[in-house]
Amino acid sequence: MKPLVDPKDFPASRKSLYLNAASVALMYRGAAEAVVEWQEDLAHNGTINFDEIAEEAVFDNLHEAAARLLNVQPDDIAVGTSATELLSSLAWSIAPGPEANVVSTDIVFPSTLYPWARVARHTNCEIRLAKGENGYADPIDIIELIDDNTAVVSISHVEFVAGQRYDLTRISEAAHSHNALFVVDATQSAGMLPIDVQDSLLDVLVTGSYKWLCGPFGVSVMYLAPHLQSKLDPGLVGWRSHKDMWDHRAYRLELPDTAKRFEFSTMAYGCAIGMTRSIEYLLEVGIDRIFTYTRHLADTLSRGLKDLGAEIASPENDGERTAIVTAQFPTKDSATVAQHLAQHQVIVSKRGDFIRFSPHLYNDLGDVQQALELIGDII
Ligand SMILES: Cc1ncc(COP(=O)(O)O)c(C=O)c1O
Repeated sequence: MKPLVDPKDFPASRKSLYLNAASVALMYRGAAEAVVEWQEDLAHNGTINFDEIAEEAVFDNLHEAAARLLNVQPDDIAVGTSATELLSSLAWSIAPGPEANVVSTDIVFPSTLYPWARVARHTNCEIRLAKGENGYADPIDIIELIDDNTAVVSISHVEFVAGQRYDLTRISEAAHSHNALFVVDATQSAGMLPIDVQDSLLDVLVTGSYKWLCGPFGVSVMYLAPHLQSKLDPGLVGWRSHKDMWDHRAYRLELPDTAKRFEFSTMAYGCAIGMTRSIEYLLEVGIDRIFTYTRHLADTLSRGLKDLGAEIASPENDGERTAIVTAQFPTKDSATVAQHLAQHQVIVSKRGDFIRFSPHLYNDLGDVQQALELIGDII
């Protein structure tokens, strides 16, 4: 199997055995260069080059790239600085009332749930959580919690501990049959696997940039379905929230009738340029190809780990498995194994009692073999 991309596109990929995209992926070289170039230009030229037109173009370009990634329209995309920030603004904009409930899982990443829990402390809505175990939650348990009082179903497309993938269409249909909104955190899936928002019938999708999208910290995007775009009143507002952000008259606020209404402030714009570059790069490689390739790496890793005596927590069936492999060794505690791996430049994450491996497009089968050999030595 040939490597998927030129290692020069990911200079750090030859420095270590980097199997940690689910935490922070290696950044695409073109994205890193864009961040630095923007910062340097600002430092040396102020707003001479980065004028108001350039400032608007940064977000417009990211709207377009993200729209292509998700198969939606640029007007459906808002830019933020983190997934958490966008989800928080969203949760306040919906603010389910005391009769309503929000459905999620108890193994979801905190940022997918905390914003709703915070709103619930204010409005007294109910939070209903499907119970998971070892990073896995049964989708039937999620669906069974949804009823006519459900305002929102908020899940992570791919669960962060064991990499379980949900069938979005299935959960979406269940949510919509009760008139609930379906909100998906795609931070652990965007860039790793194809997402067609139209096919999956999503109402909202949020993703950061620094994991599977191989972009920088400090930027994120949100898809907002057209039926919500002139309806929701964002939880966070600022000067960019106005229809014409250069209007600057503080005594009035007219929100745009697009997803842009969730954009509210300045940011480190170089990060948005970096995310645009990395999305364009991944689209050129092909998200389908990335998914096939990384799952092959993950399957090989999973088989090798099992041969070394590991117990695999990640689902193994075709519909639920991803490029994330989460394992533990009955004979050695995971903290010790992870520490040993780090000493040998094998970069992974410890999550709960498990070690989480997450290869990406810059890895190859040689990396997997080498990691397995080192783990064999340690075990
Ligand atoms: C599912 C999920 N959502 C959100 C985040 C963090 O998002 P951000 O740092 O953009 O707020 C993570 C990070 O691990 C995650 O796994």
